Amino acid sequence: MKEVILAIETSCDDTSAAIAIDGIVKSNIIISQGIHSKHGGVVPEISSREHQKNIILVVKEALRSAKIQKNDLNAISFTVGPGLLGSLLVGCSFAKSLSFALNIPLIGVDHMKAHVLSNFIDEPIPNFPFICLTVSGGHTQLVLVKDFLNMDIIGETLDDAVGEAFDKSAKILGIEYPGGPIIDKISKNGDPLKYKFSKPRISDLNFSFSGIKTSILYFVKSEMEKDPMFVEKNLNDIAASIQYSLVEILKEKLIKAANKYKISNIAIAGGVSANSLLRKEIDKLKSIYNWKTFIPKTEYCTDNAAMIAIAAHYYIKEKMFDDINICPNPRLNF
Ligand code: KG4
Ligand code: ZN
Repeated sequence: MKEVILAIETSCDDTSAAIAIDGIVKSNIIISQGIHSKHGGVVPEISSREHQKNIILVVKEALRSAKIQKNDLNAISFTVGPGLLGSLLVGCSFAKSLSFALNIPLIGVDHMKAHVLSNFIDEPIPNFPFICLTVSGGHTQLVLVKDFLNMDIIGETLDDAVGEAFDKSAKILGIEYPGGPIIDKISKNGDPLKYKFSKPRISDLNFSFSGIKTSILYFVKSEMEKDPMFVEKNLNDIAASIQYSLVEILKEKLIKAANKYKISNIAIAGGVSANSLLRKEIDKLKSIYNWKTFIPKTEYCTDNAAMIAIAAHYYIKEKMFDDINICPNPRLNF
């Protein structure tokens, strides 16, 4: 019998549903909640209400576009955490009800493991062990991946996530939330070496981004006092310099991790892995260090249910099922 999984992702501000058949993604529908841009960040209460509005729409569309009927499904998976509690609850309750109604198994998936496993959606797929740099709006992790579900965090941020650093720096420049993709876009016309920002001095594999964010804030403030048009006149150069500095920090730690663990299979994942400079730089490191690198398609970098479906495929292989009592865990940590 074919394994037909419906996956649901509602951890933050994207409502997504996907279908995978025997580990192959057949549809991946995402509704992004643009409503948060005017608030300068995700407003949790608004996010859960938007998920509630969108969830039936995305599920219907995921089924339609995969040419699947509800009754063809034989498992339902959803993001159990980490994420915003109210948002997770919407996906969790929906998945529980459908699993109960159709009498099919339920699988609560770890969002961060799913980001790593987004590297298994399309060929080429990494061999084990590999190191994954998982960079998102809430997390910055170096993960030693020993098997599909056997992973250790070998480095992580001590304060802000790198996606947060992109978004907060963008906010300082007057750019709407989420600023990461806009910084990426306007950096293409800027000089990345024009401005320098202080790098964190942490010698192990952990990250810190709060210092660089503060240094960007003070730099912009002091320049604006001298010339109120400073940001407007130099926006592309400031953005490019910020992006360059953030990507340099990520690269440095990734090289350190690869050397320490003597691993040359390197993957990236998470929203910030959609960043064009990071993708280009990983490609350069590949030839310098003779790495094999794995970079998911951009639609699988930012939050999506396809990665939840693929993760569920491996949970099923390990017979990791949940029952109707499962609750979302906003702070889930593997
Ligand atoms: O993985 P994700 O969609 O959600 C979380 O799990 O957090 O990541 C969202 C983060 C946001 O901070 C967003 O600004 C950042 O990913 N992001 C980017 C780019 N696309 C998304 N940052 C830099 N460049 C991009 N192209
Ligand atoms: Zn995510």
